[in-house]
Amino acid sequence: MNKQGYISKVRSELKSEVKHNKTSIEKLASSFGIKNKNLVKEYTELAIVLNAREVAHNNELNTYQKYQEIVALYNSQVNLSMRTSMSMLMQQYSTASPISFLASSYVLNKNPKARYFEPSAGNGLLTIALPYKQTTVNELDDVRLENLKEQPFAKVHNFDALQIPHTYDRKFEGVVTNPPFGSLSEPIFFGKFKIKGLEQAMSLKALQTMKDSGKCAIIIGGHTAWDEQGRVKAGKNRIFLNYLYHFYNVEDIIPINGSKLYSRQGTSFDTRLILINGAKEHPEGASPLKNKLHSTVVNTHEELWERVGLERSKFKAESSKDKDNLLIQELEAEAIIIIQLQG
Ligand SMILES: C[S@@+](CC[C@H](N)C(=O)[O-])C[C@H]1O[C@@H](n2cnc3c(N)ncnc32)[C@H](O)[C@@H]1O
Repeated sequence: MNKQGYISKVRSELKSEVKHNKTSIEKLASSFGIKNKNLVKEYTELAIVLNAREVAHNNELNTYQKYQEIVALYNSQVNLSMRTSMSMLMQQYSTASPISFLASSYVLNKNPKARYFEPSAGNGLLTIALPYKQTTVNELDDVRLENLKEQPFAKVHNFDALQIPHTYDRKFEGVVTNPPFGSLSEPIFFGKFKIKGLEQAMSLKALQTMKDSGKCAIIIGGHTAWDEQGRVKAGKNRIFLNYLYHFYNVEDIIPINGSKLYSRQGTSFDTRLILINGAKEHPEGASPLKNKLHSTVVNTHEELWERVGLERSKFKAESSKDKDNLLIQELEAEAIIIIQLQG
């Protein structure tokens, strides 16, 4: 099996925009002695990661030009629709490269020595804008772990992301995560908040590694649903969002149309991109009531670029009036937090 030969070939074909489908990519892989469908999928994704990373670190391009090139790369990539038993078991649908670029760029810190962490890193897609040498990654799956080890990350770990070592508490200026969807066998308590979803628990564990002044981007499944009073619908999502808003500065929760912006990763699940800008000095508030921003779904890459607003400063609520409104909404919602705590 010639893994490096296959990856180089896919990388060069991606650059010359050679189109592939499932059959043609498997045939190409087979010519390099790679017959296992899971390996075809993982090695093809590694080639995509490496090309996207190369664009993300091309100093001749500005951030918007990099994004446009990564969108073009995404549009020409083969649809990674090879569902294998491993990809289903581990819920391995990786983040589409344009979303990865925006999420990782969002957490970039001005400090040239800043450190970054991705606790369930897959093949490294969600780290593409982060400097290798300052980024620590972790992954359980062996094939993906090997792919990560071939890249010059600061550290590559292999622990369960629900059990991150305490030495990493509040260590990183930037954290990115797209944890696997699923449920926990036993709920986990974060303070008084009873967390039942695997991806929610893994997100909160990831957040514990962020410095209070750091930033975090989380990709999580589904869109927020609200009840008739405009509150987040009761259940595990409400508890999770209340926790986030109570302890962190949540800048935005962007609902992403999965079939438009994710389908080339082998799934068209709707997702949300959660942007967090530091921890609150004095924890207060809860998930705000339904508002126009949070219920506006992003359907195109251009809309996503605008919404993340990398080149806009700080809070989405740009005017102080908007900020005040958001704060009032959070405080109004806090009035009902007690009955929401146990869901
Ligand atoms: C949805 S994928 C996302 C991968 C990567 N973050 C990305 O966006 O491309 C989730 C990843 O978590 C890994 N994983 C599943 N359970 C894990 C655990 N308990 N600890 C660490 N990684 C885990 C899976 O193997 C998979 O690569």
